[in-house]
Amino acid sequence: MSEQNTVILKQVYLSLEGNAGKVEILHSIDLQITQGSSCALVGPSGSGKSSLLMVMAGLEQATKGSVIVLGQDISSMPENQLAQFRRGKVGVVFQSFHLIPSMTALQNVATALELAGTSDPFERAQQKLADVGLAHRSEHFPKQLSGGEQQRVALARALASDPKIVFADEPTGNLDAANGAGITDILFTLTRAQPDTTLILVTHDVELAARCDRIVHLRDGKIAERTVT
Ligand SMILES: Nc1ncnc2c1ncn2[C@@H]1O[C@H](COP(=O)(O)OP(=O)(O)OP(=O)(O)O)[C@@H](O)[C@H]1O
Ligand SMILES: [Mg+2]
Repeated sequence: MSEQNTVILKQVYLSLEGNAGKVEILHSIDLQITQGSSCALVGPSGSGKSSLLMVMAGLEQATKGSVIVLGQDISSMPENQLAQFRRGKVGVVFQSFHLIPSMTALQNVATALELAGTSDPFERAQQKLADVGLAHRSEHFPKQLSGGEQQRVALARALASDPKIVFADEPTGNLDAANGAGITDILFTLTRAQPDTTLILVTHDVELAARCDRIVHLRDGKIAERTVT
């Protein structure tokens, strides 16, 4: 099969209502991301990296333009359809982990699998925790885990249902260098083990960006530069 694009953005704009009126956040974004590739979004604070990631992940709706993800136009999908679309196909990792504090590591991962309709969520969750090196921490609650361990649980959760696209917004941003490097290794090892999984991440970390197949530089809500690494 010829190369396919998992994400196609055409003339995407995003504006949001702020306290001081309408804020233009993304302008005229054209971007195609090949299935199975990895892409880093970089740029100064406020340049629109997180916003662009959220638009591609179906967590934020573009104001204008078309957003085609895995062959589906999600730009005008109602929220209930979007939620259905994301389930199982899209994994998201945030800088601040976003684990559910009242659930153990195992429950955090298993809940995502249950939502995705997996038949054996707890067994698979345990396996995924083992994949990120946390088999021995499955009964711990998030507050009983270090930052690096919490992010590994978040990775296990995002990757648990073998999503076609993994979106990560500064996955190493809250971690020290050693933990950050550990998370990066797991992220690449696990996504590269599934050759058609696309990895799209936001980072300030030059080394992490350089490990991706390409780098898209944002400035003031526009694509300023595209680099193939
Ligand atoms: N809900 C919102 N309402 C209004 N403006 C917003 C909203 N969310 C973000 N913005 C503005 O949009 C711009 C882009 O924000 P975004 O979070 O995408 O930047 P970023 O590149 O991810 O920055 P950082 O590196 O600091 O995370 C910023 O100027 C921000 O203030
Ligand atoms: Mg951001």
